[in-house]
Amino acid sequence: MFNAENFVENSLKEIRNIVGKHKVISACSGGVDSTVTTALVHKAVGDKLVAVFVDDGLRREGEPEFVVKTLRNLGIRTKFVDAKEEFFAVFKGKTDAEEKRKAFRDKFYKTLGKAAREEQINFIVQGTIKADVIETVKGIKSQHNVLEQIGINPETYGYKILEPLRELFKPDVRKVARELGLPEEISERMPFPGPALSLRVLGEVTPEKVVVVRKATEIVEEETRKLRTFQNFAVLHNDKATGIKKGERVYGNIITVRIVDSEDAVTAKARQVPYEVLMRISERITGEILSVVRCLYDITDKPPATIEFE
Ligand code: XMP
Repeated sequence: MFNAENFVENSLKEIRNIVGKHKVISACSGGVDSTVTTALVHKAVGDKLVAVFVDDGLRREGEPEFVVKTLRNLGIRTKFVDAKEEFFAVFKGKTDAEEKRKAFRDKFYKTLGKAAREEQINFIVQGTIKADVIETVKGIKSQHNVLEQIGINPETYGYKILEPLRELFKPDVRKVARELGLPEEISERMPFPGPALSLRVLGEVTPEKVVVVRKATEIVEEETRKLRTFQNFAVLHNDKATGIKKGERVYGNIITVRIVDSEDAVTAKARQVPYEVLMRISERITGEILSVVRCLYDITDKPPATIEFE
């Protein structure tokens, strides 16, 4: 049985030993894994840590502000890096899911490397957990935050990596969050992938498409808050469909809504959401987003599907 109190106690000692007098940087996306990691390292080394939030332009509505505010409320020194344009530039012309992940990862580490150099830091902390390692090793997908397993030497980016949660599964990460006294908004947070909305814009990622999927995501989250599901989100398709807007035939966007239950993301079940909820989501998405003419609900479990579309 996992004991969060012992884990925290042992981790604090280990982190202090490894870090010594050095300074540490932590990339925090606001997800439970990276926030717990950041809070844990902060508890261990205090102001030797600087947290960095990289705004890649792919975050959910209000997310950058929320994350920075949460970290600062915890007393953590936090740097905000606006890299939106640089991220969109690397997605140009890329349609393959793994190529998109690779482009994201590369830009992400370069951005972080630059921030680390500016702060004269050579330790990077990140929130890799056990499932990331397993799925990457199995070749299911390259999680953006697992480097050594895929043959990348982090030192080529100019720093060393510290991954205090790499032996934990998600439920235990949440226990650590509670143990550290993090707010419920963090400890019970829905998982959100590192490459963010780039995986939910099928095909090439552009700022215009991200605006559409971000708005659809906001609607899905608002309408499903009470369902307490493992993950729920919207996906923007690459192809289009015929529809009618303002009395005219148009060729518009398609959004798929995905709402799943899962323990650890290794398997998942599509939730049998009440029909009224689905209808309300569909009406809002097609009514509030001009370009969307069709809204679909995905009823596939994992396996054979994965949770994300890419
Ligand atoms: P799949 O789609 O493989 O997702 O069923 C399992 C869990 O992992 C998340 N996910 C990712 N997380 N980088 C991440 O940090 C990624 O590239 C990535 N791909 C999927 C997904 O949201 C789900 O929780």
